[in-house]
Amino acid sequence: MTIDWNQRYAQRLEWMTTSAIRDILKCAQAPGLISLAGGWPEAELFPTRQLAEIAQDVITNMPRESLQYGLTDGFPPLRALLAEQMSAQGIPAEMGNIIITSGTQQSLDLLGRILLDEDDTVLVENPTFLGALQSFKAYGVAFRAVNMDDDGADVARLDPTDCKYYYALPTFQNPTGVTMSLARRKQLIQRSFDQDLVIIEDDPYGSLRFEGDPLPTLAALASQEAVSRGLTGKPSNVVYCSSFSKTLAPGLRLSWVVCPKEVAEPLVMAKQGTDLHTNALSQVIAYEFLRRGWLPEQIARIRETYRVRRQAMLEAIEEYLPQGIYFSRPQGGLFLWVELPPEIDTVALLPEAVEQQVAFVPGSPFYITADGKNTMRLTFASVRPELIREGIRRLGEIIKRHL
Ligand SMILES: Cc1ncc(COP(=O)(O)O)c(C=O)c1O
Repeated sequence: MTIDWNQRYAQRLEWMTTSAIRDILKCAQAPGLISLAGGWPEAELFPTRQLAEIAQDVITNMPRESLQYGLTDGFPPLRALLAEQMSAQGIPAEMGNIIITSGTQQSLDLLGRILLDEDDTVLVENPTFLGALQSFKAYGVAFRAVNMDDDGADVARLDPTDCKYYYALPTFQNPTGVTMSLARRKQLIQRSFDQDLVIIEDDPYGSLRFEGDPLPTLAALASQEAVSRGLTGKPSNVVYCSSFSKTLAPGLRLSWVVCPKEVAEPLVMAKQGTDLHTNALSQVIAYEFLRRGWLPEQIARIRETYRVRRQAMLEAIEEYLPQGIYFSRPQGGLFLWVELPPEIDTVALLPEAVEQQVAFVPGSPFYITADGKNTMRLTFASVRPELIREGIRRLGEIIKRHL
């Protein structure tokens, strides 16, 4: 018997893509290579001592909560605590509005699963987070672009007609590091109310601001707008996603969704069929970390480290990259975006860079259009300042050879 597997695959397999970035990352882990490529947080900042202490404690003293099967919507004390914190940040939430998920990547997939039909259209920033494109693509959808500039997505020119939702990354966007201005945020929320637009706000980096004043999230602005329009009590049009991946550790696979109860119900149903519930041990550990009040200090350490590294990268770019190129000046998060002269193709540049022991992520995979050939994403988060400098110096030499 021989099985022809190609005849057996579901149609949706055709819609799935592997991440070009993951493939690049595989080659960017060689010892000695300076990787400005990965979207990984600095592992040296993981609060290992505290996590180990809590893990020991909860496995010993709370085995039912940390090791037994749990509820699909999440560990109730963690949901309650997050509801409190979200409310304090202007996103009114009760426990019933909070679903714990196994990473925002899962949140995006589950939201896609309950909201998207084949041939639906999703509005996305151009460029946008590749993982979201991958998730949504698996549901057979089309994309419509919202272009970006230094103030974030160009809200005035966004066309929401017949779009299922707008996937928005307003704060320290992956890949560009750009933050949407307050004026645009307000304009977006106005338009979303006027035109019944659903927004999925992905905010994994919001707490990692190392410069400038914090801006209200879209979810918080939507709740203010609802009050001013006398619409309180109606479900919000913004679903908010955040994660512990960049504040605690991504290996915990722990994140949450804040959504109207109308959305929570099908979301839980979809999650049940996917993984029953998020890792209980991770949930109890994170809950204890928050309950003991350790998160603010942890976030302060991360911010300070990333601030210094972002500064090192900006200075190195000014010194070593050709004059006149565009680069973003992120005020938080992990990423910085570079646009080289149009004749340079960063995909073609990458093998040469890897040969010179430096890696970056070419920008074109983040676009839903054929744009961005001359762009690249750099991370400053997981590289020491002296290596950032050396990495940018090497990149500068390669780029200058191609000009
Ligand atoms: C914008 C954005 N959303 C979601 C994710 C996935 O995060 P998580 O580890 O919570 O799945 C990432 C990870 O880099 C990201 O940059």
